[in-house]
Amino acid sequence: MTATAYKAAIFHMTDDPSIVGVANSHEYFKEGMLVVDNGIVTAAGHCVDIEPTLANGTPIVDHTGSMIVPGFIDTHIHFPQVDMIASFGEQLLDWLNTYTFPEEAKFADPAHAAECADFFLDELLRNGTTTALVYGTAHKQSADALFAKAFKRDMRIVAGKALMDRNVPENVRDTAESGDKDSRDLIAKWHGKGRLGYAVTPRFAPACSDEQMTRAGQILKDFPDVLMHTHLSENVSEIDWVQGLYPNSKDYLDVYDQFGLLTDRSVFAHCVHMEGHEFQRLAEANAAVAFYPTSNLFLGSGLFSLKEAEKYGVRVGLGTDVGAGTSFSILQTMNEAYKVCHLKGDKLNPYKSFYLATLGGANALHMADKVGSLKAGNEADFLVLDFAATPLLKRRMKSCKNLDETLFVLSMLGDDRAISHTYIAGHLQHKR
Ligand code: GUN
Ligand code: ZN
Repeated sequence: MTATAYKAAIFHMTDDPSIVGVANSHEYFKEGMLVVDNGIVTAAGHCVDIEPTLANGTPIVDHTGSMIVPGFIDTHIHFPQVDMIASFGEQLLDWLNTYTFPEEAKFADPAHAAECADFFLDELLRNGTTTALVYGTAHKQSADALFAKAFKRDMRIVAGKALMDRNVPENVRDTAESGDKDSRDLIAKWHGKGRLGYAVTPRFAPACSDEQMTRAGQILKDFPDVLMHTHLSENVSEIDWVQGLYPNSKDYLDVYDQFGLLTDRSVFAHCVHMEGHEFQRLAEANAAVAFYPTSNLFLGSGLFSLKEAEKYGVRVGLGTDVGAGTSFSILQTMNEAYKVCHLKGDKLNPYKSFYLATLGGANALHMADKVGSLKAGNEADFLVLDFAATPLLKRRMKSCKNLDETLFVLSMLGDDRAISHTYIAGHLQHKR
């Protein structure tokens, strides 16, 4: 394949603005050019510098007037919950029993899983999400279907079948033994194939027996480069339940820790009701957490403290947590994240939002050497943001005075309509 060049404004985060300051955290090329060769970024910079260096005949795709940014990274989403997103009225535990588990039971059927995986991945692409950390159901065939469909699209997806052998209905339950075997089979089949990766996925402590948690810890030891993905401290009733199940544990995090599930490859979803010492232990273990504002608001779970996570130096990504989350759109998720931070007395600046949605997510998933920014050598997953996607966005953009304001307005008013093109490893996979 020969190189292709893309002309547009180019913006990407190169570091965490909370650590290095906004001025040192990003690159912006107002009249920019991105060059991609064989699925890999070879250059991103000012058009005037790059264009003269292109080999004769290099095709130039013109996205002038729009902005190219790295593909978004959703650090926690449930693909089997697409058909019950926006279910009314319950908080976490009743929501799981009333809506979620009955829906997940349908994923025993591989044809259903395959059809849903197709829809799910296309919906990610429509929203500019090029990488995600994804929950399956307890059924091995759910994760199998998702991996097969993601492989076809060449997407960098990390996923796992959920481990859940107690306190859930029979039709969404595995056993400690089958969960262990199925996870190992899926690792053998998919982990490292193309751009795919596996995450050992205990549903949450109340749904996993001690034997299942012990076996999960052993899988992590046997396969040190797979991720661990679970829920932690989301809802007050859930936390009380865990306390009752594990009266001798110091706290919820300690339960995972006891079974060897707190490592630098762990990603903990939610962490809404954490004590400082829990953040401290997450930081010591170099584990990651993820921030899901639409979900935490929708289920009435609470307000995540980004400042507290930052204070302890914990790696943080952003995610939707569909179907408790109410949108696939990472732009809409930035919008809600801003409001949650506001309620906590903090101002989430748009550079930090874009960091969480791209490079921060890549850091949380240990893949910043592959995706999350447009530095040369990274895989060319990127999207084109259309500043004129809606009449209101178009009108408001005209009065933006600088990049800060442009990014902020995009994150407040943008949604799937603002994603005009999504490229996966240099191939166009979605065009609005
Ligand atoms: N905790 C255990 N399972 C789930 C789930 O499916 N969604 C959310 N938001 N929290 C959970
Ligand atoms: Zn979740």
